[in-house]
Amino acid sequence: MLPLVARDYGGWCQVWAPAKVNLYLRVVGKRPDGFHELATYMLPIPLYDTVLARPAAGISLQCDDPSLPVDSANLVWKAAALLACRHAPGCGAEIELRKRIPHQAGMGGGSSDAAAALVCLNHLWKLNLGRTELKALALELGSDVPFFLGNGPAWCTGRGENLTPIAPAFGTNLVVVKPREGLGTREIFQRLSAPNLPGPVGEFPDPEKKADQAFQNALGQTTSALGKLLRNDLQVPSCQMLPSLDEIRGELVAAGVLGVVMTGSGSAVVALAADASKAVSVAQRLKSAWTPSGPGAVYVACSAAGESR
Ligand code: C5P
Repeated sequence: MLPLVARDYGGWCQVWAPAKVNLYLRVVGKRPDGFHELATYMLPIPLYDTVLARPAAGISLQCDDPSLPVDSANLVWKAAALLACRHAPGCGAEIELRKRIPHQAGMGGGSSDAAAALVCLNHLWKLNLGRTELKALALELGSDVPFFLGNGPAWCTGRGENLTPIAPAFGTNLVVVKPREGLGTREIFQRLSAPNLPGPVGEFPDPEKKADQAFQNALGQTTSALGKLLRNDLQVPSCQMLPSLDEIRGELVAAGVLGVVMTGSGSAVVALAADASKAVSVAQRLKSAWTPSGPGAVYVACSAAGESR
């Protein structure tokens, strides 16, 4: 994936905001600040929201999804207000958010929109802030926001903000199934029973580090090796909240994929298919055969080895 890029477009500045999936998410433990220390692998996928902005007096937001707030409860609005407060006092913008990424899905839609708003307004207000300065603001907005200011697939630690870019050595062919019901990140973390960390990470033995290493090694091997190591420690509380996730997983396994895992705190589930045509046929099967509560949406996201997303 190319880093988020600001383009001038008919009097507006426009930034495309991609979705992400987590193919691995290990909760290392609970930190003294209440957040959880994570070891996770995130991959952008080519499903995009769009953030547009043009100069105006004050900050205003419109969104084509009427179920989302357009006031200070929206991360885009928060991003604009934070940037103006810290670096651009008196600057304003009329902002438009066009939604395609489902929310409460674990696909990073709100976080990506916030990162796109920072990039868009940095350009519109001619602030010339570098990625490091933007990333510091991004982490104040949410744990996943800094990822979207990176350069694509990355191994992420801390709350998710310490990024090490690693691209798979092979093409990835993903099917993403979003049930109608969504899940809230805060509630899922609250339901998780994770051990309190005894001290700063790195200062105590972490036997599960071997699992992280095995996953990273598989990124350099084959898609079938990777399929066996998909993991998400948030699946237990998420499946308790939404038992239909187990049914979706069963449907995907029966369709013959290489691995299935929930993304983020859910509710979307990701399957890794052997190739692009398999991904398309699995998606078709899920769309037509899956009826109990019905998926809200099914997406296919394919990339060749080394291809920028
Ligand atoms: O950082 P963000 O606002 O996206 O997180 C939403 C909620 O998820 C936090 O309030 C926290 O309860 C939980 N969370 C966590 N550990 C993380 C990320 C999120 O406990 N690494």
